[in-house]
Amino acid sequence: MSDYDLVIRGGTLASAAEVFEADIGIKDGVIAALGRNLPRGVEEIPAKGMVVTPGGIDSHCHIEELGQDGSVQEESFASGSAAALAGGTTSFICFLPQWKGHGLADSAPGYEARAAASRADYSFHQIITDPTPDVLRRELPALVARGIRSFKVFLTYDPLRLTDREFIEVLAAARRLGAFVTVHCENYDAIGWRIEALLRAGLTDPLQHAWSRPPVVEREATHRAIALAELVDQPIQVFHVSCEEAAAEIAAARARGLKVWGETCPQYLTLSHADLQGADFAGAKAVCSPALREAGENERVWKRIQDGTLDVVTSDHCGFSFATQKKVAGSSAYGTGTAASRPDGTPVFNAIPNGVPGIETRMPVLFSEGVSKGRIDLPTFVRLTSANAAKLFGLQGRKGSLMPGADADLVLWDPDAERTIRNAALHHAIDYTPWEGMAVKGWPGTTIRRGEVAVRDGEVLAPPGSGRFLPRGPYALARPRGVVPDGFDAASV
Ligand code: URP
Ligand code: ZN
Ligand code: ZN
Repeated sequence: MSDYDLVIRGGTLASAAEVFEADIGIKDGVIAALGRNLPRGVEEIPAKGMVVTPGGIDSHCHIEELGQDGSVQEESFASGSAAALAGGTTSFICFLPQWKGHGLADSAPGYEARAAASRADYSFHQIITDPTPDVLRRELPALVARGIRSFKVFLTYDPLRLTDREFIEVLAAARRLGAFVTVHCENYDAIGWRIEALLRAGLTDPLQHAWSRPPVVEREATHRAIALAELVDQPIQVFHVSCEEAAAEIAAARARGLKVWGETCPQYLTLSHADLQGADFAGAKAVCSPALREAGENERVWKRIQDGTLDVVTSDHCGFSFATQKKVAGSSAYGTGTAASRPDGTPVFNAIPNGVPGIETRMPVLFSEGVSKGRIDLPTFVRLTSANAAKLFGLQGRKGSLMPGADADLVLWDPDAERTIRNAALHHAIDYTPWEGMAVKGWPGTTIRRGEVAVRDGEVLAPPGSGRFLPRGPYALARPRGVVPDGFDAASV
């Protein structure tokens, strides 16, 4: 009888720390051994010439999200998780919604039932839009006890945003519960003021979405979020950092010893204002928030990856098709305005649903633009796409690792494969990709999820429902520093 169910033989292994040649022996879904010349497994996958990384963790993606009006984002758990696996992502964290005027229980059970159809492993961040005393003191402790240990708050978007006082209350609740907080940092009032002026001036194109929310509104809110997190002594991650100005706030906070982390996305590393200006309203395809920046900003964001300020790259995948959503006014909570249309029926910029699809392209685009072009090395790629998310969100030792004992979530990359990204070849349910026609070098051919071949040569084999919910217990990184102003800990009384 063989020691291993599966041996990945002779690959170039890339962990968060190093690159080395070895076989991987897998037993009962976990990595059992690394070494040269391991005994034969029941199954063998030759990997000579392949780069083997941990399966990706996409710690920020919107899948089948439920709107208060009964709408559901087009990407289902079955399709979104197929796309994730095909792009090398074996686990993701998506969002339990809360609707203003409702408790958490009104949306959570229905959403969790939908998530059970996932093919990849999954967890949730709880969006908090209405932090009533009942939510803070009763519902959140129950949620954390079920292993949902991170929250997302928005400082903008009409139906979602928190006031500073509400944000502080959420930070304090997270402190008490040992939970982690992620923040969408943009200044709500500044954006509203700019939008109204742009509309008065008759400027309504998708490009004006970016004009309505320039880097300064992101910088201000990032600074404020960090300051309030410092006040409460609560660790946070700033989501989807789009520009140097916001990244510099994070770097300054970290230099002062604060527990603040920054995430960015492939769109902020590769796309720009030019993508908001396509013919036939194609610019709507690239509308997301924070907005794409001017050409040149991409390289500044890369620098912040290289210096470690931004240490997680997620997709922020959003399931809005061009024909049915992006071209239709006011169809989402992730818009800033009323459902206003222009004479040709296309929406004004602030009524375009925000967000781009990218769960399948996240890792290949980063591999190509990062590793193949020499901007980052393989261990950095692994930290950005899985290992750091595992640390930040309480999955360390289980996910994002090649160490024996970790789940055998692995991706076999052909580092020399040259492909052109085409939406027709992707597995998501969305009718476009913002990276249509992009040439990439390096491609994930085989994805293994808990020891099972989930994708072989681009064909998704994992069935719907084979993903598992990932409960998350207490973990060190979410612990506060123990430093509060004047030694008075307002969160604890
Ligand atoms: O434009 C974006 N990012 N849409 C998704 C919602 C969010 O803010 O993450
Ligand atoms: Zn956001
Ligand atoms: Zn998002």
